[in-house]
Amino acid sequence: SSLHDLIEALPKVEQHLHIEGTLEPELLFSLAAKNSVALPDDPVYASPETLRDRYQRFTCLDDFLHYYYLGMSVLVTEADFETLAWAYFQKAARDKVRHAEVFFDPQAHTARGVSYDTVVAGLAAAKKRAQAELAITVEYIVCILRHLPLPESDALVDTVLDRGHLTDGTLVGFGMVSSEKPFPPELFADIYARVARTGTHLTTHAGEEAPASFITASLERLGVERIDHGLAAAEDPALLASLARNRTLLTLCPWSNVALKNIPRFEDAPIRAFLDAGVRFSVNSDDPAYFGAYVQEVYCRVQDTFGLSVADWDWIVRGAVEESWCSDERKAEIL
Ligand code: HPA
Ligand code: ZN
Repeated sequence: SSLHDLIEALPKVEQHLHIEGTLEPELLFSLAAKNSVALPDDPVYASPETLRDRYQRFTCLDDFLHYYYLGMSVLVTEADFETLAWAYFQKAARDKVRHAEVFFDPQAHTARGVSYDTVVAGLAAAKKRAQAELAITVEYIVCILRHLPLPESDALVDTVLDRGHLTDGTLVGFGMVSSEKPFPPELFADIYARVARTGTHLTTHAGEEAPASFITASLERLGVERIDHGLAAAEDPALLASLARNRTLLTLCPWSNVALKNIPRFEDAPIRAFLDAGVRFSVNSDDPAYFGAYVQEVYCRVQDTFGLSVADWDWIVRGAVEESWCSDERKAEIL
């Protein structure tokens, strides 16, 4: 539509992006060879093309997570994490992303013998380079995996607190990811309370595959200031009203929601419901190498599907920037 030029030029912030979800099949295969990591003896892993083909047929969140955790087993050295993140930042720059708040999953690496410090050092190097060479500001959000035993998440928090990374600028916040429905927010109240004492930003994935009650419980029991996905909020008018009143940002990922069958069609994304309720939300890519679209393409698909006005886009982008976890000076530069 006629707004595509405007949408491509919009200064974007990406607030829901898993760095491990930017691992393209070609890089996956080349790192597997370099690091002598054996891929499954399965025709899906015959080539980058057969793997990418399988990515087009995810049946649900857990089906995706299987390939996601398997894929990241090729990431071994500090340089691998830097390569991964740098490749993403170059794509983000192409898409006019000015500021990125990026999730990573240390437990998926420490479980394979790759240390937390190796992961963070590689990501930090890529961040420095993105800021210097691409003028993108980058912040990292460390995530716990909700499907793992709680003591393992507590051990990660021990490490993060020991390093002082939530207060020295290395990390901007704390989040929670992975399989949602079997692991309700209440289970993690003590961990969030521990992390909250640092004063860092708190978020969690909620209302992706689980109902709106998981969003309410995340806000009330975990003290999060932001909700990642928040798809299910659309089914609860009282929740929508309170999200709007409290200016709670939802980091919506409509392309992901269709790819993982959380909604049947792109038209079912709650864009209009959120706009009408005055709920602040951003448009994000989630795991672009797995779902096949980086953020610019997601923006364009929103426009093609919903035919938003310039005022709608201005409101979306302004809300996302204002609720970003960067300095006020940086927000003013982006807007
Ligand atoms: N949901 C839960 N966990 C995840 C996701 C997601 O969309 N992407 C990567 N880990
Ligand atoms: Zn996500």
